[in-house]
Amino acid sequence: MRAIRAGRSWWIYAGDAVSDDARARSVLPVLQPEGWALLQGLGEYDESRALSIGERLRAEGHDPATVAAVLTQARLRARAREKFGERACAMLFTEDGLEQSTRQEIATQHAERFRRVGLTSVADLGCGIGGDAMALASRGLRVQAADRDELTAAVAAVNLRPFPTARVLCGSAEDHDPSATDGIWLDPARRRVRRDGARARRVHDPEAYEPPLSFVTALASRLGSDGADGPLGVKLSPAIDRAALPERTETQWTSWHGQVLEATSWFGPLAEPGILTSALVIDRAGTHQLSRSATDPAPDDVPVGAIGAHLYEPDGAVLRAGLLAALATQLHARTVDPTIAYLTGEELVATPFARGFAVHDVMPFSLKALTSYLRHHRIGVLEIKKRGTAVEPEELRRKLRPRRFGDGSATLILTRAAGEQVVIVAQPHDAKGAA
Ligand SMILES: C[S@@+](CC[C@H](N)C(=O)[O-])C[C@H]1O[C@@H](n2cnc3c(N)ncnc32)[C@H](O)[C@@H]1O
Repeated sequence: MRAIRAGRSWWIYAGDAVSDDARARSVLPVLQPEGWALLQGLGEYDESRALSIGERLRAEGHDPATVAAVLTQARLRARAREKFGERACAMLFTEDGLEQSTRQEIATQHAERFRRVGLTSVADLGCGIGGDAMALASRGLRVQAADRDELTAAVAAVNLRPFPTARVLCGSAEDHDPSATDGIWLDPARRRVRRDGARARRVHDPEAYEPPLSFVTALASRLGSDGADGPLGVKLSPAIDRAALPERTETQWTSWHGQVLEATSWFGPLAEPGILTSALVIDRAGTHQLSRSATDPAPDDVPVGAIGAHLYEPDGAVLRAGLLAALATQLHARTVDPTIAYLTGEELVATPFARGFAVHDVMPFSLKALTSYLRHHRIGVLEIKKRGTAVEPEELRRKLRPRRFGDGSATLILTRAAGEQVVIVAQPHDAKGAA
């Protein structure tokens, strides 16, 4: 392993093997004092001025390769602010590394698990550009981060400079000695990166992750003692089949402002005792958690009944974690059909785990009947949702041409109830939970 130090001073080695690579060309010049100073002095990146800035810098005598790298890094920093906030302004990136990195709000949740159980040191094996490692280090944990890709490890070393408790190595997860740290974090690569410029393909089979899930489970057991797993967390695809999850873990699906971004399996003391799956929902109001233990009802054990006064569309993390039954209990609700994940009930319950709607009307699906309904009620602004029906929302919108009916708005929910295709005309509950 080649050491790349983060901390007060730093030294980076990026060998000839990577110097011809376009990725390397976007990073190596800014590791030099001239490139770094130019990048830091550039100010806010504005795409429309990039060409003229480039021309000006070259006219001032800066090397074209350095100018190109500086502009690439400035563009990546601007894009990265969405994930890393102000911290992005002092970071470096590779395109792949930024795309695969964990956004700061979620990385903080990962780091909190390690901190809560009292661990003091964590190895981040496959640290990428350091998204998770920075969150761990900023929580006061001693971090040993490693990535087998030399350029990525160099970038992580720059990004971890502000954290004296972090150190970055270029090396393989497979070479890690589990006794070196209290806990381990892994975020395996889940996309095949193509060097020919084509988009990377996502990998769905956990055995095709790098490193594969079987390596991770074996590592958790080596980290533990007396047959129990040690404290290890691994990020997985949110689309992972629940049957493929490692045993003796809590797996948590995280949704961020309505988007399910990841599943994470927690081993040993990092798992909540007795909990099999959980959903962590992050929204404007904060973080919210719903869990299922081995003694709770099975995921699909939900009563079925007629459409009531309110309809709930569960968050994707709730569905993937198999928490439909748990949510139905909270909302005093039932499903509209055994195979459809909409919940319905008589009560308006404000919940972060579902989007709620007040039901105004329910009718069998018919284009003619729907057209005259919208005309009669002057509804011209439509949100169209569907589950369990072949009708395509955009095609329906084209056929309805609703703008001609007026300025009223409604949500149309196309689904199946009691074996029939129906349209539910509804209004979303407002932010305060009122209908
Ligand atoms: C998904 S990225 C990690 C992103 C990181 N958590 C972050 O927030 O920035 C996965 C990384 O694992 C690295 N990797 C893949 N297989 C590895 C292995 N066997 N050992 C070490 N690193 C590996 C890849 O080079 C890649 O940078």
